Amino acid sequence: MDVEDIRADLTEVLITEEEIHAKLAELARRVEADYADTTPLLVGVLKGAVMVMADFARELRIHIDMDWMAVSSYGAGTESSGVVRILKDLDTDIAGRDVLIVEDIIDSGLTLSWLLQNLRSRGAKSVKILALLRKPESIKVDVDVAYVGFDIPPAFVVGYGLDFAERYRNLRAIGVLAPHVYE
Ligand code: XMP
Ligand code: MG
Repeated sequence: MDVEDIRADLTEVLITEEEIHAKLAELARRVEADYADTTPLLVGVLKGAVMVMADFARELRIHIDMDWMAVSSYGAGTESSGVVRILKDLDTDIAGRDVLIVEDIIDSGLTLSWLLQNLRSRGAKSVKILALLRKPESIKVDVDVAYVGFDIPPAFVVGYGLDFAERYRNLRAIGVLAPHVYE
């Protein structure tokens, strides 16, 4: 789906498809260099990171393994609670592995900070984070994100895996959702 297909639902296009792909290529070059001597396990966080994982993994010119987790960080509302539940766990034993968490967005940081602790406690050799988007003004806990695509304002964004009520994940770009959609 392209921006033109849902123009009225967005107040602004923040990041175009081309900009996303250029950034993922840039991050891939850094990751290739940093993981030259190992085969990292990329852990995608469902469902938002599906598009990032698909495009980023194909950019990489090194071997990787891939696994997925699904976690729920939100209670009823749209604010992160810090209470994280595992809905789907890894299939992989990560003891001794170099793990790279692949995320769509870091908002309060609560989800990732929990996930980082959780994966470290399983005896991974290293755990680093790649996040396509970060909202610096919304950060509540300090999380060390090794690879960040874009810093964005604290607006609710959709597209490229990010949803509102499960919609807009298939939008190629990333845009700010218009208030009339959710009000
Ligand atoms: P925290 O606050 O724990 O939350 O860093 C990260 C998760 O919150 C979701 N999230 C969003 N989803 N548009 C979305 O579609 C947004 O603007 C947004 N901000 C946070 C997302 O699931 C992420 O993994
Ligand atoms: Mg998510």
